[in-house]
Amino acid sequence: MGDTSGTKDTTGAAGAGGMYGADAAEIYEQTHRARGKDFAQEATDVLRLVGEDCGRRSLLDVACGTGNHLEFFAGHFEQVAGVDLSEAMLATARRRLPDGVPLGVADMRSFELDRTYQVITCLFASVGYLDTTDELAAALRCFGRHLAPGGVVAVEPWWFPATFLPGHVAADVVEWDGRTVSRVSHTVRDGDFSRMEVHYLSAEPGAGVRHFTETHRARLFTREEYEEAFRAAGFTPRYHPGVQSGRGLFTATAA
Ligand SMILES: C[S@@+](CC[C@H](N)C(=O)[O-])C[C@H]1O[C@@H](n2cnc3c(N)ncnc32)[C@H](O)[C@@H]1O
Repeated sequence: MGDTSGTKDTTGAAGAGGMYGADAAEIYEQTHRARGKDFAQEATDVLRLVGEDCGRRSLLDVACGTGNHLEFFAGHFEQVAGVDLSEAMLATARRRLPDGVPLGVADMRSFELDRTYQVITCLFASVGYLDTTDELAAALRCFGRHLAPGGVVAVEPWWFPATFLPGHVAADVVEWDGRTVSRVSHTVRDGDFSRMEVHYLSAEPGAGVRHFTETHRARLFTREEYEEAFRAAGFTPRYHPGVQSGRGLFTATAA
């Protein structure tokens, strides 16, 4: 039986791109589904809160990951597209989504596409990988440059300092294609950031057992910091509590 171990430490958005490599993309899919994350329900809630006034013909999902929300959105919009920092996550999204859905590697703080969209989403707390309020405002300004007149931006925040529960532990065992992965995590507060240590034990017939860890550091922006960043980027934000596993959702239109 083989036994290898490895550690990845991720700090900020640049680190997040390296974090979501090929192995992580597959485990991401399997563990979040096994843990009951309901991407279709989340996307339904997002559309309800975005409303219909914007027209809903085109949608861009920023930090789209493996494309689970985009798969749902593709059934409700004439045109959908996605960008993400991780090519490995996008590779899974390409397998999931219909041919012709544009998917590209891009940084949410600085991407430049040659068109606008009526709805721009950024879900599952991907903005938490941004380190500073300046970076958050830069990302929102970038969203604004790609928003069609009358369009709506929907951003799922990471936990606020006031709602974050330090010491959270999660544990799951997931099996697929003959492979078994156990995942345990422990999350602590580290100043203005949360730090989640994740340990994986992966066992596969013929391949043996591997142990590896990830460290996810995410900024605990306050609700006021999000709202100020939206305003600095030229938006009028509105916060909707309760949805997205309790983290809530910001929707915003041009001020
Ligand atoms: C928690 S996953 C969420 C993925 C997807 N939105 C979902 O709900 O399944 C975070 C994603 O953010 C991406 N990401 C992190 N920093 C980014 C950045 N600066 N620009 C674009 N994508 C980024 C990662 O590559 C990863 O796919």
